[in-house]
This record gives sequence, C-alpha cells and structure tokens, in this order.
Amino acid sequence: MRRFLKTRAGWLAAAPLALAVTACSQPPPPPAAAPATPAAPAQSPAERGKVLVTVGGCNDCHTTKKLGPNGPEPDMSKMLAGHPEEIKVAAPYKPAAGSVWAYATTDTLTAWSGPWGVSFAANLTPDKNTGLGGGVWSEETFLKALKTGKHMGTSRDILPPMPWPWYSQLSDEDLKAIWAYLQTIPAVANHVPDPLPPAGAPPAAK
Ligand code: HEC
Repeated sequence: MRRFLKTRAGWLAAAPLALAVTACSQPPPPPAAAPATPAAPAQSPAERGKVLVTVGGCNDCHTTKKLGPNGPEPDMSKMLAGHPEEIKVAAPYKPAAGSVWAYATTDTLTAWSGPWGVSFAANLTPDKNTGLGGGVWSEETFLKALKTGKHMGTSRDILPPMPWPWYSQLSDEDLKAIWAYLQTIPAVANHVPDPLPPAGAPPAAK
C-alpha cells in the first residue's frame, strides 16, 4: 500500500477513495430547516362566498348560457344576472297528454316551466335597479329568503327549481358569506320578469 501510494498514479487512484471515505465518515449535514408551514391565509367572507356559490351550482340556473365549442356554457359576461330580459316567455309549457315529460326549460336554463307555472332565475348581481343592490334586499332579507323559502323572506313561496331547502341548511355564517360575495360581483342591469302562474290559474300573489 505504501509503495502504491508513493506513485503519482497511486495518489490519483486513491484520492477518490479517500474523498469517499471522508465523505462517509462525516456526520450527515443537518437537515435543512423545514420551511415553516405558511399559515393558511385567512379567507374573507367574500372569498368563502365565492367558493360556496361556485360549488353550490348557482351559475347553473342564475347565469345564462351561450354556445361554446362543446355546447352551451355559462356566459360569464352576464354572471348570475338571471333570466335574460330579452328572452320573452309568454305562457307555461303544456306537456302533451300522457307524455312522461312534465317540465321544460329554456336553452339558457334560466326559465323553468312546471305545475307551478313559469319561474325565472333571479338577478343576483348587485345592480341597484334590477339585482340585489339598491337597498330593497339586505343581508337579513337574503338569509330569510334562503332559510324560509319565502320570496324576500316574507311573501309568496319561492318557486322550483330554486333549491332553497338545501341551501337553508347552510350556517348563517356561510349564507352571509354568499351575500358578501354577491355584493362584490359586477352589477348587470337585467330586469327578470315576475313568475307566470300555471295555465288557467289566477295570477300568483307577489
Ligand atoms: C336549479 C336552478 C337554481 C339553482 C341551482 C339556484 N337557483 Fe336561485 N333561483 C332559481 C329560480 C328559478 C328562482 C326564481 C324563483 C321564484 O321566482 O320564485 C331563484 C331565485 C333565487 C333568489 C330570489 C329568492 C326570492 O326571494 O325571490 C335568490 C336570492 C337565489 N335564487 C339565490 C341562489 C343562490 C345563492 C344559489 C346558489 C347557492 C341559487 N340561487 C341556485 C333557480 C335556481
């Protein structure tokens, strides 16, 4: 070994081994300090509300549709503005006698016809004249409507297919978050018509 190490080639040959031994015999470097887990950024009520509105499917009925490459898709330029006022619906759908089909909807999925007459998805944007802005609606009215199923929390029944019985199971905090989010979205002026009564029925009380 001694003789071997004396030669230049020997040193060269032995060097990697020496390095390797040195490397192995050294204590492992201290583990890099674990990055501090960033505290989850606090979610504002409006941010929480956005999640609830998105997964709660509100856009399915309250946002009109446009034709995209794969068929109808929500027209987000009119997000949550309800049934488009320019699409006039004059009378309820009349299923053929004996037909298994009972309900109908427009291709925007914003007007719905059934035994209750015709309902039109409301404008949920903060527009002052036609939406939830303008002081007619308030957080309190909004919560009452979604919890009691009464129009604006006090009058006629909210009509199908508005799935308020599901949403009424949300906590007040979550419903307030939805309200807070809806106040932040772009206002869209769109006057949604009043519901139509079923064929042959007296006009529904407002
Ligand atoms: C399956 C369709 C559908 C879905 C999904 C839906 N809505 Fe509705 N919504 C309607 C229809 C239709 C009306 C109009 C009912 C009426 O005139 O009585 C309505 C009405 C409303 C109203 C007005 C209630 C009132 O007092 O007159 C509010 C507020 C509302 N929806 C909020 C929401 C929110 C928030 C979501 C999602 C969390 C949602 N809706 C999801 C169909 C839907």
